[in-house]
Amino acid sequence: MKVVVADNFEAGALKLLEATGAQIVHKPESLEAELADAKMLVVRSATRVTEELLSIAPNLKVVARAGVGLDNVDQDACKKRGIEVMNTPSASTNAVAEFALALILGASRNVPRAHHSMKQGKWEKKVLAGSEVEGRTLGIIGCGRIGSLLAEKARALGMEVLGYNPPPRHDSPHIKYVELDELFGSSDIISLHVPSTPETNGMINKGTISKMKDGAILINTARGSIVEEDALYGACKSGKIRAAALDVFPSEPYSGKLLELENVFCTPHIAASTAQAQERIGELIAQKISSLMSCGE
Ligand code: MLT
Repeated sequence: MKVVVADNFEAGALKLLEATGAQIVHKPESLEAELADAKMLVVRSATRVTEELLSIAPNLKVVARAGVGLDNVDQDACKKRGIEVMNTPSASTNAVAEFALALILGASRNVPRAHHSMKQGKWEKKVLAGSEVEGRTLGIIGCGRIGSLLAEKARALGMEVLGYNPPPRHDSPHIKYVELDELFGSSDIISLHVPSTPETNGMINKGTISKMKDGAILINTARGSIVEEDALYGACKSGKIRAAALDVFPSEPYSGKLLELENVFCTPHIAASTAQAQERIGELIAQKISSLMSCGE
């Protein structure tokens, strides 16, 4: 059975796929040539699984999204062709929650900015004074696996945690669930954990930013499309938003204007990129390959 892994895959995880005995083709030069007889396609966020891509893969049985978000997979097109779509929703929960926490602490204490400043030969002890997170209010938009785990970790640091989830849910003892406007108006730090959907895209815009506290911090490890780039740029420039820490962008790789601002901290979509998360993802996809092979694929 042939499995095409179209995007970057960590070496350890790749070994787990190879151990199944399937023929694993990693990052082929020509997707078209390799997909012609492939049974399974594995993607992260870079490859877009469109109807057009599926049309060059006549034997495909499964599309595996190595991660959570399925926004780069045309699920309707897969359904039409009878192709199963799988993802690995719980494998990277801790990695992303920890990373959001790292961004919260880093942005509150100016860690990335201090690093840059020193590398430029400066010693800006006064300018870089930050604020502690203990006693501050974290607003979490999207209280699923990642949002709830972040809430638990933030509570352990002594933060107050407000949460809003569309549709409403009330299952975490670590979260005080509120309406969205209350979350915007009461949070010192806002962290986004919703998927990209027509309802969430552009959810952070000029109007919603105006409801935030002056000097709020925004963290985005979810999807770039949730935040309107121009609105965020304006708010960070004016200081309405004190700092933004972004791991995801409207288009990736990102080279846009938010990079110009000193109070916008950027990382290249690495929240789920830990050895542990990638290994868990590898294990789940390897299990799927083995079960397909045992069915004679
Ligand atoms: C995900 O949806 O799992 C994350 O964005 C991680 C990734 O795609 O690398």
